[in-house]
This record gives sequence, structure tokens and C-alpha cells, in this order.
Amino acid sequence: MPPLMESQPSADGERRRSSISMIPDALYGDKEKKTWVILGASRGIGLEFVRQLVARGERVLATVRKKWAGHASALWSQAGGDHGRCQMFICDILSEKSIIDFVAELSAIPGLKIDYVVINAGVMRYPNRATEASFDEFAFHLHTNTIGPIITAQKLLQSKIPIGTIAFMSSDSGSAGAFRDIEDGFAAYASSKAALNQALRHMAAELKRKNDDTVILAIHPGEVATDMANIDLPWELGGLMTPEQSVRPMIDVIQNKGSQHSGTFWTWEDKPYPW
Ligand SMILES: NC(=O)c1ccc[n+]([C@@H]2O[C@H](COP(=O)([O-])OP(=O)(O)OC[C@H]3O[C@@H](n4cnc5c(N)ncnc54)[C@H](OP(=O)(O)O)[C@@H]3O)[C@@H](O)[C@H]2O)c1
Repeated sequence: MPPLMESQPSADGERRRSSISMIPDALYGDKEKKTWVILGASRGIGLEFVRQLVARGERVLATVRKKWAGHASALWSQAGGDHGRCQMFICDILSEKSIIDFVAELSAIPGLKIDYVVINAGVMRYPNRATEASFDEFAFHLHTNTIGPIITAQKLLQSKIPIGTIAFMSSDSGSAGAFRDIEDGFAAYASSKAALNQALRHMAAELKRKNDDTVILAIHPGEVATDMANIDLPWELGGLMTPEQSVRPMIDVIQNKGSQHSGTFWTWEDKPYPW
């Protein structure tokens, strides 16, 4: 990734966030190792990101909603056994206060720079048809899959922590260009991912206008065998992967993108996906 701009006042008087390359290595430790923030890491794809990144020796700051949650126990044991390279935080993206508290905790870490943020948290309550879903059910998908992720990224960007890349976990269901009318029962979910895509494109464009070269990406992880995908669908999914098979190439996709790619949509296989 090309070096970020030096911190200096912009036309609107705001101070640009400082460059990752300006942080002295002494403050940061092993410069070969990258720092990842994984939002929504208790299970499924998020937990697999943590597992693989810890195995690679990367530094991981991972969030769960409730540290006492039984399903997060695998992550807690990872956090305990890796000499502090995996730290756990609490963040519920349905709560602005929880997001702000989490970002404040990160901001208090001396010399922190973040190479990659993966905003993975998401929900899909099946079915969520446009002809049937209640107001609350529709809002739940939009709050969790659109507003929470965007506000989390916004608060991180406002924090002055240098950030290289923010990757949002989107979905092929959110594509307007490759609309899949076979996806019966996905209306609220698909709408929430389409809105996420549109908002993150605006975020990328706004950052470019502010000369901030944090890279903003949307990723489709493929069809992955997690709790979310554990539903009986009336159509053929075709090629359900394990989290391991999806996350391994996704790490490379995220790492290989530079500022020229900000505001683009990719599959786990590194293929551009239509908005
Ligand atoms: N699986 C697929 O085939 C597939 C396909 C396309 C896109 N995706 C996307 O990939 C992402 C991960 O999905 P997954 O398959 O791994 O699903 P999953 O197994 O259901 O895991 C969802 C994760 O999101 C977290 N989460 C949910 N609501 C949250 C909230 N309010 N605040 C913080 N965290 C929250 C969950 O935490 P808790 O454990 O606390 O509930 C859990 O860690 C989602 O954004 C999903 O839309 C998945």
C-alpha cells in the first residue's frame, strides 16, 4: 500500500489523520507483524479470521458482544494462549454507546496503529420477505448490517488511530447489478447489505475528498457453512465452503488492496463483484 499523506490541516480546517508510516516502530514492536481488528469474532467467519491470524503470528484485537457468552469460549482460550497477541474487547454494533466505548478503549492503547479492520458482524433471520417481514424485523437487519458497521467505521476513522484498510463483510445478496431473484426470504437481509454497499462507497469517496487514503472495501465471503447459513433453502447453494476455505483467501484479498482499490467490491476469490 502506498504511504499515507502527512498530517496537516485540510481546507475545511480538520486535521488529517496521521500516516501509519509516521508511527515510530519502537512504539509498535515487530514491524513484520500486522495488527488486525476483527468485529464480530465470537463464531463463524469472524472466529476463523482470529484463528488464522493468530496462527500466522499477527496481532489481533477481536470483539464479542458478551465475554461470558458460551459460544465465545473458543476465542477466549485463544486469547489466553498466545502471549497477548490476541486481545478481546466488547462491542455490540446495535449500541452506539458500545461502539464509542470500544473505540475509546482502542484509542487508549499507546502507539496503536491498525493495519486492517474487518467489520464482519452481521445477522440474517430467515425468512425476511418484503411481503411479510415486520417493521421491527426489517429494522433489525438494517440496524445490524448497515448502520452498526458504518457507524463503527466512522468512529474508528474519527479516532485519529492510523488505519490502513477497513473491509466490510458484505454479501452477493446485496448486489443490485447481479440481483438474485431466487433468494426467497432474503429481502430485508439483501436490502441491508445493498445499503451497506452504497454507504461504504460514499465513505470511500468522502475519504478520498479528504485526502485520507484509508482503503475501504466490500467483500463477499462466498457461501460459508456457519450458523447463519444453517437453514433449509429451497434453492441450490452450490459450493458451500468451510470458514477455513473462505477466510484463507480473504485475508490475501484484503491485504493485497491499495488506495486505488478503495470503494470496490471483491469476492473471497479476488474477483471484482458488481455493485
Ligand atoms: N455464511 C455465509 O454464507 C455468508 C455469506 C455472505 C455474507 N456473510 C456475512 O458474513 C458475516 C459473518 O457471517 P457468519 O456466516 O460468520 O455468521 P454467524 O456465524 O451467524 O456469525 C455472526 C457474527 O456476528 C456477530 N454479531 C451479530 N450481531 C451483532 C451485534 N449486534 N454486535 C456485534 N456482533 C454481532 C455474532 O455475534 P454473537 O455470537 O454475539 O451473536 C457473530 O460473531 C456476516 O456479515 C454475514 O452477513 C455470510
